[in-house]
Amino acid sequence: MKKYLTMDDIKLEDKTVLVRLDLNSPIKNGEILDDKRFRSHIPTLKELNDSKAVLMSHQGRAGGKDFTTMEAHAKKLSKLIKKDVKYVDDIFGRYALESIKGMKKGDIVLLENLRFYSKESLKRSPEEHANTHLVKKLASVADVFINDAFSTSHRSHLSMVGFSTVLPSVAGRLMEKEIEALNKALDNPSRPCVFVLGGAKVDDSIEITKNILEKKIADKVLLTGLVANVFLLASEIDIGKPSVDFIEKEGYLDQVDIAKDLLGRFKNIMLPTDAALNVDGKRVEKTLGELGEPIDFPIHDMGKKTILAFSKELKNSGVAVLNGPAGVFENEAFSKGTFEILKAAGESGSV
Ligand code: 3PG
Repeated sequence: MKKYLTMDDIKLEDKTVLVRLDLNSPIKNGEILDDKRFRSHIPTLKELNDSKAVLMSHQGRAGGKDFTTMEAHAKKLSKLIKKDVKYVDDIFGRYALESIKGMKKGDIVLLENLRFYSKESLKRSPEEHANTHLVKKLASVADVFINDAFSTSHRSHLSMVGFSTVLPSVAGRLMEKEIEALNKALDNPSRPCVFVLGGAKVDDSIEITKNILEKKIADKVLLTGLVANVFLLASEIDIGKPSVDFIEKEGYLDQVDIAKDLLGRFKNIMLPTDAALNVDGKRVEKTLGELGEPIDFPIHDMGKKTILAFSKELKNSGVAVLNGPAGVFENEAFSKGTFEILKAAGESGSV
């Protein structure tokens, strides 16, 4: 028996269903560059053929280059599910509410970028978020709330937690699949349990590192990507000015002290020992640390010694949990670390 409700536990036919998706994707000049997140929501959407589905998502963060409307998302989704998805350039104003009230069975609308409403991104309790215009207005025209945005579930944001106190709420199919995968991996995991944390969201990965080490969930944490650079900097290893400048530009210099504290407290954090630099578009590998030469170009991937060492840890692990790329994987020259790590994780006891 599951400890949460799913789409099996509720009648959806003829209902107006608010669905929180995570369609946040790389986007350039109005073009969605990666449709993985769209495809992962298709099982949920397929089950809403006899409902009126009101989709909601965020895109980017205020001030970022990718902070934009959901127009391209509606088009992309229409194409993928071969069904019209109407883009409504409003979140909870009159146009949005009238559009929802005018829906027929089988219709799908996608509302505007939720983060255009500043309260969306506040970290608040479900009760506080429920007491907002957005939740009150949308809940007044909906019957059910489905949360399918697993990749945003670490945020106590308005659309993630605000509806569950005022509408019957269930997990969508993607949310269910991810929760089950995590439960399988983390309920009495086979040891050693190895986490590989990477990507560009340094603060999130540091918070995870702290949590899984303090609670002894992980036996080892291997760091890659930008978060590894922050830890290398905290260990006073030369990562070169371009990489330090990048950490500063992304606003993560304040994480260096937190990384230092974690390195002091836990001896089971593994850092890269070499790196692939982007030297005018070419991959050039360098050893890091005392033996290394000065680094004058940005680090865009881990080097082969690190790939070998991390792969070995993963192949010998009972459970592997991964959260983000090891480098700038969109550029083939710097995708090696990410793909090799994925391959090695596939050979662990369970991923
Ligand atoms: C993600 O891409 O990690 C999710 O969409 C959450 O986005 P955020 O980190 O901007 O909250």
